[in-house]
Amino acid sequence: MIIRVAEPSDSEAIGRLAAELDASAEGKAASGCLAKVLGRPDYLVLVAIREGEVVGWLQAHAFDVLVSGFRVDIIGLVVSGGSRRSGIGRALVGRAERWAAGLGAESVVVRSNTKRVESHRFYPALGYSLAKTQAVYRKQLRKRDPIGAIANP
Ligand SMILES: CC(C)(COP(=O)(O)OP(=O)(O)OC[C@H]1O[C@@H](n2cnc3c(N)ncnc32)[C@H](O)[C@@H]1OP(=O)(O)O)[C@@H](O)C(=O)NCCC(=O)NCCS
Repeated sequence: MIIRVAEPSDSEAIGRLAAELDASAEGKAASGCLAKVLGRPDYLVLVAIREGEVVGWLQAHAFDVLVSGFRVDIIGLVVSGGSRRSGIGRALVGRAERWAAGLGAESVVVRSNTKRVESHRFYPALGYSLAKTQAVYRKQLRKRDPIGAIANP
């Protein structure tokens, strides 16, 4: 198994793995979002390759939080259903941690849906401790016109 930084041509495989968790994620991953973050110094996207196939991926984001400092969040991590429990997740997170340390981040944080039962075994096994539980709120915004005004106020 090798781990490398993702390339634009990985978007389909990343989308396919994302769809194992959420069917609506596949289109977004395949439609240019990967190209937007590749090459940005504040993002890391890794893929794990086994026998020529992408069997896992991770996305991490480095940013400053006014009240808690510079940190890295793991914002996506999936290992394919058929490849779990063989160290791929551990290897992806380890590589992200080394990236974070190299940037001078103070911590690595990850939020994981309570329904992802395996992840709540996985992160503690890697030395992560539960910091808090939260409710997540979302507001869907309307599409904007090219000059930024709301199209249909
Ligand atoms: C969570 C996930 C990424 C783990 O990937 P993985 O490659 O299977 O994990 P690893 O093989 O590296 O496991 C490392 C350790 O974590 C623990 N662990 C992982 N999965 C576990 C499970 N299902 N039950 C109990 N412990 C588990 C074990 O201690 C394991 O070490 P061991 O196999 O030597 O006992 C994978 O299950 C996954 O993609 N799940 C769905 C998506 C998800 O939950 N993503 C995280 C949300 S941010």
